[in-house]
Amino acid sequence: MARKKIIAGNWKMNMTPSEAVKLIETLKPLVKTDDADVVFCVPAIDIIPALEAAKGTNIEIGAENMYFEEKGAYTGEIAPAMLTDVGVKYVIIGHSERREYFAETNETVNKKVLKAFEHGITPIVCCGETLTQREQGVTMDFIRQQVKIAFLGVTAEQAKTAVIAYEPIWAIGTGKTATTEQAQEVCGGIRKCIAEIYDEATAEAIRIQYGGSVNAKTAPELFVQPDIDGGLVGGAALKPDFGQIVNWK
Ligand code: PGA
Repeated sequence: MARKKIIAGNWKMNMTPSEAVKLIETLKPLVKTDDADVVFCVPAIDIIPALEAAKGTNIEIGAENMYFEEKGAYTGEIAPAMLTDVGVKYVIIGHSERREYFAETNETVNKKVLKAFEHGITPIVCCGETLTQREQGVTMDFIRQQVKIAFLGVTAEQAKTAVIAYEPIWAIGTGKTATTEQAQEVCGGIRKCIAEIYDEATAEAIRIQYGGSVNAKTAPELFVQPDIDGGLVGGAALKPDFGQIVNWK
């Protein structure tokens, strides 16, 4: 069975709640499609108004982060049950910005991935190399390590429903998209890695996105690649361009 594409916006730390509602009103008619799952991952405070604004549309609302404990003395964190209580179905885990600025590690990413599955939330698990690693020729070694640790203890049944986002750090917010060959090569390598951890059926089912300066122009050539099942989109997800990205065909 062909994998359904999944195209997700990562709003990062942008849009106040009232701006979020306005943006969703603008994008609503533009992102209509039956061909792909469409997810807007928004700041925590925007989640509830975004859910309201997206009601009755094909837009799913996701979170950008989540903590790995159930509840308790973790000032400032968001618990998984807080997300499911309002109807959140997706969460970005281990974005490179969280790894870089908020000290997330492969181990905390793994704990969050396990916790998300425990609560029935689909994790969008991020991985990606730095420019130095690419130049040193260790891209795939580094990403295999990130993926293997992220999925420790995750069952094949769970992994089949997961989303992995390959985001080369040097391509994020830089306007420098990886070439389609580079993106396909790594996404294919990730699928191979999943086949090694689990089996072919799991590798065939899991959805792998490319992220890093995806725009309306680059999306079509990326999304036709055999191992690229959609995109995680930052900057262009805040503009009407996102409608073109979603309807890339
Ligand atoms: P970008 O961000 O599209 O602005 O490069 C992608 C991301 O970080 O998810």
